This record gives sequence, structure tokens and C-alpha cells, in this order.
Amino acid sequence: MNVVMIGAGYVGLTTGACLAELGHDVCCVDVDDQKIMNIDRGRLPIYEPGLAELIAANRGRGRLNFSCDLPSAVSVADIVFIAVGTPSRPDGDIDLSHVETAARDIAPHLRPDTLIVIKSTVVAGTARRVRQLIAQQRQNRPVAVASNPEFLREGSAIADFMNADRIVAGSDEEEAGAKLAALYRPLVERGIPYVRTGTINAELIKYAANAFLALKIGFINDVADLCEGAEGDVAAVAEGIGLDRRIGSAFLSPGPGFGGSCFPKDTRAFAATGRRSGAQQTLIETLIRKNDERKRLLAQRILQQLGSPRSGKRAAILGTAFKANTDDMREAAALTIVPLLQKAGVEIAAHDPRARATASVHLTDVHWCDSPYTAAKDADLIVILTEWPEYRHLDLGRIARAMRGRRIIDYRNILEPKKVVQHGLEYSSLGRPKLTPSRLQKTAAQAESGSRWTDIAASPL
Ligand code: UGA
Repeated sequence: MNVVMIGAGYVGLTTGACLAELGHDVCCVDVDDQKIMNIDRGRLPIYEPGLAELIAANRGRGRLNFSCDLPSAVSVADIVFIAVGTPSRPDGDIDLSHVETAARDIAPHLRPDTLIVIKSTVVAGTARRVRQLIAQQRQNRPVAVASNPEFLREGSAIADFMNADRIVAGSDEEEAGAKLAALYRPLVERGIPYVRTGTINAELIKYAANAFLALKIGFINDVADLCEGAEGDVAAVAEGIGLDRRIGSAFLSPGPGFGGSCFPKDTRAFAATGRRSGAQQTLIETLIRKNDERKRLLAQRILQQLGSPRSGKRAAILGTAFKANTDDMREAAALTIVPLLQKAGVEIAAHDPRARATASVHLTDVHWCDSPYTAAKDADLIVILTEWPEYRHLDLGRIARAMRGRRIIDYRNILEPKKVVQHGLEYSSLGRPKLTPSRLQKTAAQAESGSRWTDIAASPL
């Protein structure tokens, strides 16, 4: 099929490349000619593992191209996807102006049988509204508008597309539904569940899915706090509850509060939809408030551990991106935590394998380092904010020698407490028992004398 993707951002580029991989002819169109020129030269506006290779391969096969010429691309399309941004408005609702502009721009060039598919995350009723808008532009010659939300995680977007848990296809007309089903046939034939429903349900599914996942994270963060108070271990609790298939083990890792371009924005939009529809989403409203608070509280904990006076103290931040395998800084915990530390007089050295350039735009007066070891040099304390795989295998001896202080705060629980403490460092993480060198010694002595407390991580220290 001939597919046009309006918007060559994160979702548009990934979806476009994946549809080309399925065998469709795809043209990604964007108003930003500089962006299109860069992509054409192989310089992608985002970092996503495997995407550059997928784009190059499909361009080579002649199935994927990039253009700023919207009229020419749209006039030969069977399906036009709208994959433009839907930023948050100050009241939490989303700004649909880019979607509406895209709809107006494509309207005059559509064939009567072209299907419009909204890929952007939009509030319930948007597909119907876009259908009306296009009909007005085309002197009441309507076209079908479907809703096909994406469930792509940054960092694993290609795998999420190719091995999706499900495809959600919302359409209010029989023919539109059939066309969308034909587009995804290669995936459905591989056994991927296909949920065919109306446009409003599809729009609601997207928000409800993200709100539910965000709730899981908020819940496990609360459980982590509880474990700290009750001397429990959140990893054990998460494993114990996650094995219940009704709960599931995914999204039960505590952290410094969820961030990124989706969960914060989508939970706000979900809550705003609730207020607008007279069905207030109090669970989600509380979640949003607690998630914001968590970032500030975790900054306070760092300050407490630094002690007074703070001025002249140095903290090394390992990881600034909102999660690993991305350079995306949107709503990253670092954006709240770093300025709060700086405000208290703390000097910041930082390292991130990918997000230095994107983070530098927002974080000022930061001493950027090329490795975690240079960031650790003379640091009074180290804070891990992003779960980059390379931080799991830090040479802790090297870190201990480079530091001025002794403390590592791990807000992603990626280090092995025992190993950190064995290097003479003090370690705190989320929802796990605190382990200090003297406690480690005590535990080792107990183990030697035949005490039953041999598993340090699980012992009530
Ligand atoms: C999320 C969803 O997972 C995708 O399914 C969805 O398509 C996407 O939003 C979207 O709406 O476009 P993404 O924002 O890329 O994907 O990132 P996630 O992997 O979901 O992580 C979101 C945040 O939650 C991150 O800050 C991450 O660190 C945090 N998180 C995630 C935790 O703190 N704990 C976890 O167990 C999982």
C-alpha cells in the first residue's frame, strides 16, 4: 500500500520505517525542511536503537523516502497517517492545533477513498472532529478517519512495533476498518492480536493503557517507601506480586518518578478528560501530584545525605535521560533534581552516554564528563538517575578511588548492595535495606559463626 506519514518525529519515523519493513511504500513528510534534509543524509533527529539501520535498509529497497512536498505525496496515498505532536496545555489538556493543521493541509489533496489514520495520541472524539474538519474543507466530501494509537516505548520501539502485544484499530466505517486491517495483515498473520473497535474506544484505550502503567509505577514507588520504613526489600515484594498473572511483573521497578514524553502528558490529559466529562479521575490526579512530589523529595534526600554546609559540595549525576537507551530529556527526573541541588549550593558533575547534548539545553552550570569515572572525581556523593546498562558494571574500585566522599545513591536499584559496600562505600537505594561497611562486617561475622543470616541483601539490617 502507498502510505504517507505526516510528521517525521519519533512516532512518525519509527512507524514509517516499520511499515516499509512490512512491505509498504512509505513517504514521511514534515514541514521542517532542515529535518527532512538531515534525515535524507542519514542524520536522524532522535536516537532510537536500530532505527538508522532500518531506515537505510528500506530506503535502499526503494520503499521509504522523505519529503516536504505534502501535496504530491498525499495525492497518491492510500492511507495518510497523522503523527504530529500533541503537547500539553497549561490546564493539562492537549493542544490539538498541529493535528488540525495537518488535517487542513492534507484535505485538498486527498482522493475520495484515501483513509486518514490518527497516530498521534489524542483525546476521545478527535478522529470524529478531524473527519468533520476535513469534510468542511472538501465542500462536504467526507473521507474516513480512523484511530490507531501507538504503544512504542522509546529505546525498544522497533521491537514493540514488530512484536506488539496488540494492534488497536479504531474505525467508525466498515471500509476504513478493512483497509486498516489490510495494512497490518503481515503482523496479524504472525499472530499479533488485532483489536478492532470504534475510534472513541481506540482513543480511550491509548490513555487508559498509559494511565494504568503509570499507576503501576506510582504504586511500586509507594511500596518502595513502605519497604524502607518496614525494612523490607521491594525487589522481593515486586517478584512476589508480579508472579500473580493478574498483576504481571512488568513496570514494577521503583525509580525517581516516571518521565518522558508520554506518561506525564498522557496522565494529565486523562485527568483533564475526566474533569471535562464529569468523571473525575481522582486516582490519576493523585498519581500526577505524587509523581511530581517524588522528584522533589528524592532531591531532598540527596541534600540530607550531603549534610551541611552544602555549598562547595560536589555531586556526580550518572544518567540524565528520562530512562536508558534514549537521549530524550522530556520530563526527566534530572530536570527537577539537578536544579534543586544547585539551588542549595551543590556543584554538579554529570555523565550520560547519550543525552548530554539534549540535557545541556535545559541544565546549566553542569560540568559534563566523558565517563562516569571523571564525573566521580572529587565527588562527595554519586547519584544514579538513569539505568544505563554500563552503570551496572561500574568499576567500583575506580569509583571509590576517584571520589572525595563515600556515598552512592542509586535511584534505579541497579547496583548490587554488597559489592558497593565491599569497596568501602556507603550505599542507599530505593526500598532496599541499607548496607554500610560496618553492617557488612557484622553480617560476615554472623555468617562465619553459623548465623542463619547469610544472605546479606535479604537480611534485616
Ligand atoms: C510509554 C509506554 O510504555 C508506551 O507503551 C507508549 O507507547 C509510550 O509511552 C507512548 O505513549 O508513546 P515510554 O515513554 O517510551 O513509553 O517509556 P516507558 O518505558 O514506558 O517509561 C516511562 C517512564 O516510567 C520512564 O521514566 C521510566 O523510567 C519509568 N518506569 C518505567 C519506572 O520508573 N519503572 C518501571 O518499572 C517502568
